Amino acid sequence: MSKITVAIDGYSSCGKSTLAKALAQKLNYNYIDTGAMYRAVTIYCLRNKIITPNGVDLLKLKNSLNDIEVSFKYNHVSKSSEVFLNGEHVDKEIRSMEVANHVSIIASIKEVREKMVTLQREMGKYKGVIMDGRDIGSFVFPNAELKLFMTADNAVRTQRRLDELSSKGEYYTFEDVRHNLEKRDNDDTTRKENPLIQAKDAIVLDNTDLTKEDQLEFVIKLIDDLLLTKDEFNQVSKKIS
Ligand code: DC
Repeated sequence: MSKITVAIDGYSSCGKSTLAKALAQKLNYNYIDTGAMYRAVTIYCLRNKIITPNGVDLLKLKNSLNDIEVSFKYNHVSKSSEVFLNGEHVDKEIRSMEVANHVSIIASIKEVREKMVTLQREMGKYKGVIMDGRDIGSFVFPNAELKLFMTADNAVRTQRRLDELSSKGEYYTFEDVRHNLEKRDNDDTTRKENPLIQAKDAIVLDNTDLTKEDQLEFVIKLIDDLLLTKDEFNQVSKKIS
Protein backbone atom coordinates (compact mmCIF):
# COMPACT_ATOMS: atom_id res chain seq x y z
CA MET A 1 0.00 0.00 0.00
CA SER A 2 1.34 3.45 -0.86
CA LYS A 3 2.69 5.62 1.95
CA ILE A 4 1.77 9.20 2.67
CA THR A 5 3.08 12.17 4.63
CA VAL A 6 1.03 13.34 7.59
CA ALA A 7 1.70 16.90 8.77
CA ILE A 8 0.43 17.82 12.24
CA ASP A 9 0.61 21.45 13.33
CA GLY A 10 -1.00 23.35 16.15
CA TYR A 11 -0.64 25.17 19.44
CA SER A 12 1.60 24.10 22.31
CA SER A 13 0.51 21.14 24.42
CA CYS A 14 -2.58 20.22 22.51
CA GLY A 15 -1.61 16.59 22.07
CA LYS A 16 0.18 16.67 18.72
CA SER A 17 2.92 14.29 19.79
CA THR A 18 0.53 11.91 21.55
CA LEU A 19 -1.49 11.59 18.37
CA ALA A 20 1.60 11.45 16.13
CA LYS A 21 3.20 8.66 18.19
CA ALA A 22 0.03 6.59 18.21
CA LEU A 23 -0.41 7.04 14.45
CA ALA A 24 3.21 6.13 13.75
CA GLN A 25 2.88 2.91 15.75
CA LYS A 26 -0.40 1.96 14.16
CA LEU A 27 0.79 2.60 10.59
CA ASN A 28 4.40 1.59 11.11
CA TYR A 29 5.52 5.04 9.98
CA ASN A 30 8.40 7.18 11.27
CA TYR A 31 7.53 9.86 13.77
CA ILE A 32 9.52 13.10 13.69
CA ASP A 33 8.95 15.55 16.54
CA THR A 34 10.28 18.80 15.06
CA GLY A 35 9.72 20.70 18.32
CA ALA A 36 12.24 18.31 19.89
CA MET A 37 14.77 19.44 17.28
CA TYR A 38 14.37 23.12 18.22
CA ARG A 39 14.51 22.15 21.88
CA ALA A 40 17.79 20.25 21.34
CA VAL A 41 19.31 23.32 19.68
CA THR A 42 18.12 25.35 22.69
CA ILE A 43 19.98 23.01 25.05
CA TYR A 44 23.14 23.61 23.03
CA CYS A 45 22.59 27.38 23.27
CA LEU A 46 22.01 27.28 27.02
CA ARG A 47 25.07 25.12 27.68
CA ASN A 48 27.33 27.22 25.46
CA LYS A 49 26.18 30.59 26.80
CA ILE A 50 24.69 31.56 23.44
CA ILE A 51 21.57 32.40 25.42
CA THR A 52 22.69 35.11 27.83
CA PRO A 53 20.80 37.26 30.33
CA ASN A 54 20.95 40.00 27.66
CA GLY A 55 19.48 37.87 24.91
CA VAL A 56 20.76 35.54 22.19
CA ASP A 57 24.34 36.00 20.94
CA LEU A 58 23.41 35.74 17.25
CA LEU A 59 26.94 35.85 15.92
CA LYS A 60 28.07 33.05 18.21
CA LEU A 61 24.99 31.03 17.27
CA LYS A 62 25.58 31.41 13.53
CA ASN A 63 29.23 30.44 13.98
CA SER A 64 28.22 27.39 16.00
CA LEU A 65 25.56 26.00 13.68
CA ASN A 66 27.96 23.57 12.03
CA ASP A 67 28.80 22.14 15.46
CA ILE A 68 25.18 21.33 16.28
CA GLU A 69 24.02 17.91 15.15
CA VAL A 70 20.48 16.85 15.93
CA SER A 71 19.40 13.28 15.22
CA PHE A 72 16.77 10.71 16.16
CA LYS A 73 17.10 7.06 17.14
CA TYR A 74 14.24 4.62 17.50
CA ASN A 75 13.93 3.19 21.01
CA HIS A 76 12.43 -0.31 20.76
CA VAL A 77 11.43 -0.30 24.44
CA SER A 78 9.53 3.01 24.50
CA LYS A 79 8.56 2.38 20.86
CA SER A 80 9.30 5.93 19.82
CA SER A 81 12.03 8.04 18.26
CA GLU A 82 14.25 9.84 20.75
CA VAL A 83 16.28 12.94 20.12
CA PHE A 84 20.05 13.24 20.36
CA LEU A 85 22.25 16.34 20.45
CA ASN A 86 25.74 15.67 19.10
CA GLY A 87 25.24 11.99 19.91
CA GLU A 88 23.98 12.61 23.47
CA HIS A 89 20.54 11.42 24.48
CA VAL A 90 18.65 14.59 25.50
CA ASP A 91 15.09 13.34 25.27
CA LYS A 92 14.39 14.09 28.95
CA GLU A 93 16.25 17.39 29.19
CA ILE A 94 14.37 18.90 26.24
CA ARG A 95 11.13 18.81 28.28
CA SER A 96 12.41 20.97 31.15
CA MET A 97 10.83 24.37 31.86
CA GLU A 98 14.18 26.04 31.31
CA VAL A 99 14.23 24.79 27.73
CA ALA A 100 10.52 25.60 27.29
CA ASN A 101 11.17 29.17 28.40
CA HIS A 102 13.86 29.76 25.76
CA VAL A 103 12.92 27.58 22.81
CA SER A 104 10.61 30.05 21.03
CA ILE A 105 13.34 32.64 20.63
CA ILE A 106 15.74 30.03 19.24
CA ALA A 107 13.03 28.69 16.91
CA SER A 108 12.45 32.19 15.56
CA ILE A 109 15.99 32.53 14.18
CA LYS A 110 16.15 32.20 10.41
CA GLU A 111 19.44 30.30 10.23
CA VAL A 112 18.30 27.78 12.85
CA ARG A 113 15.05 27.17 10.97
CA GLU A 114 16.83 26.76 7.64
CA LYS A 115 19.08 24.09 9.10
CA MET A 116 16.20 22.24 10.81
CA VAL A 117 13.88 22.42 7.80
CA THR A 118 16.58 20.96 5.51
CA LEU A 119 16.98 18.07 7.95
CA GLN A 120 13.22 17.58 8.25
CA ARG A 121 12.76 17.44 4.47
CA GLU A 122 15.62 14.94 4.21
CA MET A 123 14.09 12.72 6.92
CA GLY A 124 10.67 12.82 5.28
CA LYS A 125 11.64 12.45 1.65
CA TYR A 126 10.52 8.80 1.32
CA LYS A 127 7.10 9.49 2.88
CA GLY A 128 5.70 7.09 5.46
CA VAL A 129 6.25 9.81 8.01
CA ILE A 130 4.21 11.59 10.66
CA MET A 131 5.79 14.96 11.41
CA ASP A 132 4.51 17.41 14.00
CA GLY A 133 5.40 21.04 14.64
CA ARG A 134 4.21 24.50 13.68
CA ASP A 135 5.07 24.91 9.99
CA ILE A 136 4.97 21.36 8.65
CA GLY A 137 1.83 21.61 6.51
CA SER A 138 2.39 25.25 5.59
CA PHE A 139 6.10 25.17 4.78
CA VAL A 140 8.11 21.99 5.33
CA PHE A 141 5.78 19.64 3.43
CA PRO A 142 3.20 21.82 1.64
CA ASN A 143 2.25 18.78 -0.47
CA ALA A 144 1.60 16.47 2.48
CA GLU A 145 -1.38 14.26 1.70
CA LEU A 146 -2.92 14.83 5.13
CA LYS A 147 -2.60 18.04 7.13
CA LEU A 148 -4.07 18.37 10.60
CA PHE A 149 -4.27 21.57 12.60
CA MET A 150 -4.73 20.78 16.28
CA THR A 151 -6.16 22.97 18.97
CA ALA A 152 -7.76 22.66 22.41
CA ASP A 153 -9.06 24.87 25.17
CA ASN A 154 -6.26 26.77 27.00
CA ALA A 155 -7.13 25.50 30.47
CA VAL A 156 -7.22 21.90 29.23
CA ARG A 157 -3.85 22.31 27.56
CA THR A 158 -2.37 23.87 30.70
CA GLN A 159 -3.58 20.98 32.85
CA ARG A 160 -2.13 18.42 30.41
CA ARG A 161 1.25 20.15 30.50
CA LEU A 162 1.16 20.44 34.33
CA ASP A 163 0.46 16.69 34.54
CA GLU A 164 3.32 15.93 32.16
CA LEU A 165 5.75 18.06 34.20
CA SER A 166 4.65 16.73 37.58
CA SER A 167 4.94 13.12 36.35
CA LYS A 168 8.63 13.96 35.88
CA GLY A 169 8.95 15.52 39.33
CA GLU A 170 8.79 19.13 38.12
CA TYR A 171 6.19 21.15 40.00
CA TYR A 172 4.85 24.53 38.86
CA THR A 173 1.71 26.51 39.43
CA PHE A 174 -1.16 26.41 36.96
CA GLU A 175 -0.57 30.12 36.22
CA ASP A 176 3.16 29.64 35.49
CA VAL A 177 2.42 26.91 32.99
CA ARG A 178 -0.50 28.77 31.42
CA HIS A 179 1.70 31.84 31.03
CA ASN A 180 4.45 29.78 29.36
CA LEU A 181 1.98 28.22 26.89
CA GLU A 182 0.34 31.53 26.02
CA LYS A 183 3.68 33.23 25.55
CA ARG A 184 4.95 30.46 23.29
CA ASP A 185 1.74 30.48 21.23
CA ASN A 186 2.03 34.23 20.87
CA ASP A 187 5.73 34.06 19.89
CA ASP A 188 5.08 31.18 17.47
CA THR A 189 2.15 32.84 15.70
CA THR A 190 3.64 36.32 15.45
CA ARG A 191 7.26 35.61 14.48
CA LYS A 192 8.54 36.56 11.04
CA GLU A 193 10.07 33.21 10.01
CA ASN A 194 7.50 30.50 9.22
CA PRO A 195 5.00 31.41 11.94
CA LEU A 196 2.39 28.95 13.11
CA ILE A 197 -0.50 29.25 10.67
CA GLN A 198 -3.25 26.92 9.65
CA ALA A 199 -2.55 25.63 6.13
CA LYS A 200 -5.53 26.28 3.83
CA ASP A 201 -6.10 22.58 3.22
CA ALA A 202 -5.61 21.48 6.86
CA ILE A 203 -8.34 19.70 8.78
CA VAL A 204 -8.94 21.31 12.17
CA LEU A 205 -8.95 18.91 15.08
CA ASP A 206 -10.13 20.41 18.37
CA ASN A 207 -9.56 17.72 20.97
CA THR A 208 -10.81 19.59 24.06
CA ASP A 209 -13.55 16.99 24.58
CA LEU A 210 -12.04 14.04 22.75
CA THR A 211 -10.35 11.04 24.31
CA LYS A 212 -7.03 9.93 22.84
CA GLU A 213 -8.78 6.86 21.45
CA ASP A 214 -11.57 8.88 19.75
CA GLN A 215 -9.02 11.17 18.24
CA LEU A 216 -6.90 8.31 16.91
CA GLU A 217 -9.92 6.56 15.44
CA PHE A 218 -11.01 9.77 13.69
CA VAL A 219 -7.61 10.28 12.06
CA ILE A 220 -7.13 6.62 11.12
CA LYS A 221 -10.46 6.79 9.29
CA LEU A 222 -9.24 9.89 7.42
CA ILE A 223 -6.03 8.11 6.44
CA ASP A 224 -7.82 4.90 5.39
CA ASP A 225 -10.09 6.92 3.10
CA LEU A 226 -7.13 8.81 1.69
CA LEU A 227 -5.07 5.67 1.01
CA LEU A 228 -8.03 3.97 -0.62
CA THR A 229 -8.58 6.92 -2.95
CA LYS A 230 -4.85 7.12 -3.70
CA ASP A 231 -4.56 3.40 -4.51
CA GLU A 232 -7.70 3.46 -6.65
CA PHE A 233 -6.30 6.48 -8.49
CA ASN A 234 -2.97 4.68 -9.05
CA GLN A 235 -4.75 1.60 -10.43
CA VAL A 236 -6.83 3.67 -12.86
CA SER A 237 -3.69 5.59 -13.94
CA LYS A 238 -1.86 2.29 -14.58
CA LYS A 239 -4.74 1.00 -16.75
CA ILE A 240 -4.80 4.20 -18.79
CA SER A 241 -1.03 4.36 -19.45
O1 DC B 1 6.09 21.33 19.96
P1 DC B 1 7.02 21.87 21.03
O2 DC B 1 6.30 22.55 22.15
O3 DC B 1 7.98 20.84 21.52
O4 DC B 1 7.88 22.99 20.28
C1 DC B 1 8.87 23.71 20.96
C2 DC B 1 8.97 25.09 20.35
O5 DC B 1 9.55 25.00 19.05
C3 DC B 1 7.66 25.84 20.21
O6 DC B 1 7.67 27.01 21.01
C4 DC B 1 7.56 26.21 18.77
C5 DC B 1 8.84 25.77 18.13
N1 DC B 1 8.60 25.00 16.91
C6 DC B 1 8.64 25.67 15.72
O7 DC B 1 8.81 26.88 15.71
N2 DC B 1 8.50 24.98 14.56
C7 DC B 1 8.29 23.67 14.57
N3 DC B 1 8.16 23.02 13.40
C8 DC B 1 8.23 22.97 15.78
C9 DC B 1 8.37 23.68 16.96
